[in-house]
Amino acid sequence: MDRLKEKFKEKATPIAAEIKEIIKTHGDKKLGEITIAQVYQGMKGMVGMVTETSKLDAEEGIRFRGYSIPELRKQLPKAPGGTEPLPEGIFYLMLVGELPTQEDVTFITNEWAKRSVVPKHVFDVLDKLPVEAHPMTQFVTAVMAMQTESVFAKAYAKGINKKDYWEYVYEDSMNLIARLPRVAAYIYRRKYKGGAHIEPDHKLDWAANFAHMLGYEEFDMKRLMRLYLTIHADHEGGNVSAHTTHLVGSALSDPYLAFAAGMNGLAGPLHGLANQEVLAWIMDLKEQLGGGLPTKDQIAEFIKKTLLEGKVVPGYGHAVLRKTDPRFTAQQDFYKTYIGHDDICEIVQMIYEVAPPILEATGKIKNPWPNVDAHSGALLVHYGMYEYDFYTVLFGVSRALGVLASLIWDRATGSPIERPGSVTTDWVKKKIASMEQPAKA
Ligand SMILES: CC(C)(COP(=O)(O)OP(=O)(O)OC[C@H]1O[C@@H](n2cnc3c(N)ncnc32)[C@H](O)[C@@H]1OP(=O)(O)O)[C@@H](O)C(=O)NCCC(=O)NCCS
Repeated sequence: MDRLKEKFKEKATPIAAEIKEIIKTHGDKKLGEITIAQVYQGMKGMVGMVTETSKLDAEEGIRFRGYSIPELRKQLPKAPGGTEPLPEGIFYLMLVGELPTQEDVTFITNEWAKRSVVPKHVFDVLDKLPVEAHPMTQFVTAVMAMQTESVFAKAYAKGINKKDYWEYVYEDSMNLIARLPRVAAYIYRRKYKGGAHIEPDHKLDWAANFAHMLGYEEFDMKRLMRLYLTIHADHEGGNVSAHTTHLVGSALSDPYLAFAAGMNGLAGPLHGLANQEVLAWIMDLKEQLGGGLPTKDQIAEFIKKTLLEGKVVPGYGHAVLRKTDPRFTAQQDFYKTYIGHDDICEIVQMIYEVAPPILEATGKIKNPWPNVDAHSGALLVHYGMYEYDFYTVLFGVSRALGVLASLIWDRATGSPIERPGSVTTDWVKKKIASMEQPAKA
């Protein structure tokens, strides 16, 4: 058993026992009430699952195992000469619940390098897809093609003890995370760079090697990639990609199947595709105003026009957050610290000044503040990655860290198949009638 797996086992075994005890002793205690609005409107705010890796606070934003993003930017181990955290570190933190040492992250970097060989048939499958296929379609197809490698599926077919599920899910998750950058880079180079692929450089950390395989060698792009892959990793359990991975995994579908399902959710424009939508929206704004830097008044008009057309202003609003997303702030800080001036990033800052009061004035948008997607594309464009329909794949590579760490926890804690109840509108109407009866009598 490798040292990370050993450490996880040491942490998870007593917690799994504690969870059993909590359910036995306190299982019938109530955590809240469910309203009709929640049932009809996406179960917002309804506590419905346990996710150990991170917790989202509506006002404060995300905390990974209790640590905020500014804290993690300071405290997680860095690459030599680097200033941003290594994503290996956030994976360790989410999986084990403790801040890693430099040695812990080096172990993960080496482990992922060792596990990173992608079987040839995965590239063959990708090569058969039309090059115009959306990068997320290609990404999910590649993950599905890699499912042939699932050690969980093979072991399950032979027969394994329930207590050991997590061990195979750990192996699959580590292999999958190790291989995703190679697959994502292959899609990028195939689609936009005429198929001129770049071999991995295993002397580099996971994020820097990803930037290298994508074709970006500047130190600053590697620095951005480390930050990007850290801050997109997890956003508690209820978001579409995390919840889907958890749900599909609960049927004991292996990590490849579960992660691919989650990625299909990430590909939706209200979730992970919003980062590409933001860039498309900004480019459209620039084009309609004749290029160059628009004024704040022009931006305000463009936002109002978007709303009038019945469209969403991408990068703004959130199902849980009620303040500026700290992932937006971290990227804004990156811009101010390392870039200083860039036209698209300046437009992002201007939108941030102009959009919230306009969105607030609609009276219906619960959160007029920017989310993570409002800034990410502008930074990527600055370093030359203009192909914005690829951005969600970057998000997906990062999101693997959180959802797969959670999947290992799910199996280690014996989380059962998920099966919430559903009702019909007829049932709801009868329920309302029965609730109103005593008041009338
Ligand atoms: C993230 C998002 C899907 C959350 O949805 P939600 O929880 O239903 O948000 P709200 O409760 O505030 O929605 C209330 C209304 O405001 C609208 N709204 C919310 N954010 C909006 C935005 N950025 N622009 C325009 N309208 C918005 C909703 O579409 C909804 O309209 P409806 O009542 O006509 O259906 C939503 O804010 C959105 O579509 N944002 C833009 C896409 C985006 O940036 N997604 C990435 C999220 S990380």
